[in-house]
Amino acid sequence: MGMIDKLEYTNKHELIFLDQTLLPLKEKYQKTKSYKDVADAIQKLKIRGAPLIGIAAAYGVVMGVHHYDTENRKNFEIHFYKVTETLRNSRPTAKNLFYALDRMTKVFEENIEKDFNEIEDLLLREADAIYDEDAEMCKRIGVNGAELITDKMTILTHCNAGELATGGIGTALGIIYTAKQQGKDLFVYADETRPLLQGSRLTAFELEQNEIDFDIVIDSMAANLMKDQMIDCVIVGADRIASNGDVVNKVGSYSLAVNCAFHKIPFYVAAPGSTIDFETAAGKDIEIEERDPDEITKVHGEKITLPEYGVMNPAFDLVPNELITAIITEYKVHYPPYNFGGLKQMFSAYIQTLRKEED
Ligand code: MRU
Repeated sequence: MGMIDKLEYTNKHELIFLDQTLLPLKEKYQKTKSYKDVADAIQKLKIRGAPLIGIAAAYGVVMGVHHYDTENRKNFEIHFYKVTETLRNSRPTAKNLFYALDRMTKVFEENIEKDFNEIEDLLLREADAIYDEDAEMCKRIGVNGAELITDKMTILTHCNAGELATGGIGTALGIIYTAKQQGKDLFVYADETRPLLQGSRLTAFELEQNEIDFDIVIDSMAANLMKDQMIDCVIVGADRIASNGDVVNKVGSYSLAVNCAFHKIPFYVAAPGSTIDFETAAGKDIEIEERDPDEITKVHGEKITLPEYGVMNPAFDLVPNELITAIITEYKVHYPPYNFGGLKQMFSAYIQTLRKEED
């Protein structure tokens, strides 16, 4: 399990990443020393998936510091905040981006008096820790979630919440890989995931590499499959989870959850604690990214609609907690009523435990 090299920070202080916009037809790696390129790659979805965005941004900070030459502490500080601000502005919804940048900022602020090289080393250690912890969280989500999966199940998933989206084996797909490793025979329907096709391009690519049987279906097929009793459960990832368990994930997740409720099929969400927004009470307060209309009006760069047509292109939608059967984290399987607000301490203590185990 876990075969795809998606992101690596090298000892030459450059980030090598797999350009996910070209998959599955081309496996092309890009190399950069610039934090601005990292922000741009996140914005363009070359690097995507909530946890992976956070990891890339953390390394973006390290590069931003490394490739800046100054002897002046004030300038060093100003530059640091410019770097983190640029990365913060790359995408608004995934909590993991802000989780990672807040951790990097904390390390910077706690060590601001130290020698510049030492600060950089500490920032690199933190970015590595964010990457390693995410891989570990995926593993544990996989184990926790696999308890809900029985032999011969057919699972539908949306977008890509797998290896390509995280530092490890993935969240929703990590559960599927773990269940398969336990000897369970599974079949997956991968929603194509309009408009950027993370399902038919990325999830399919991963499922094949992990030898899971699957079919790609168009998003609007899901209800029919449920009616025909061809789906045992739906598992998706999350970009941000509010304290009350409302989930924001790839647009289309809401209609899947409504369809699951109608057809009495479990709707599961898998995500690490780093996706939970402990400070936000409910999903309605989460900003949903609106993306370029060209993603809908163009195919392979060619316009397919008339220029005067209006377009709405939100990247995500909100699944209210009452439609979610369970939320699977690295800690456990959470059932409603969800109250993550009170769990902040527990999750940070848990991350400390992961860290100690790593050392
Ligand atoms: O726009 P994307 O491709 O970054 O959207 C990704 C998703 O919606 C995933 O489901 C989510 O980030 C969870 S990834 C473990």
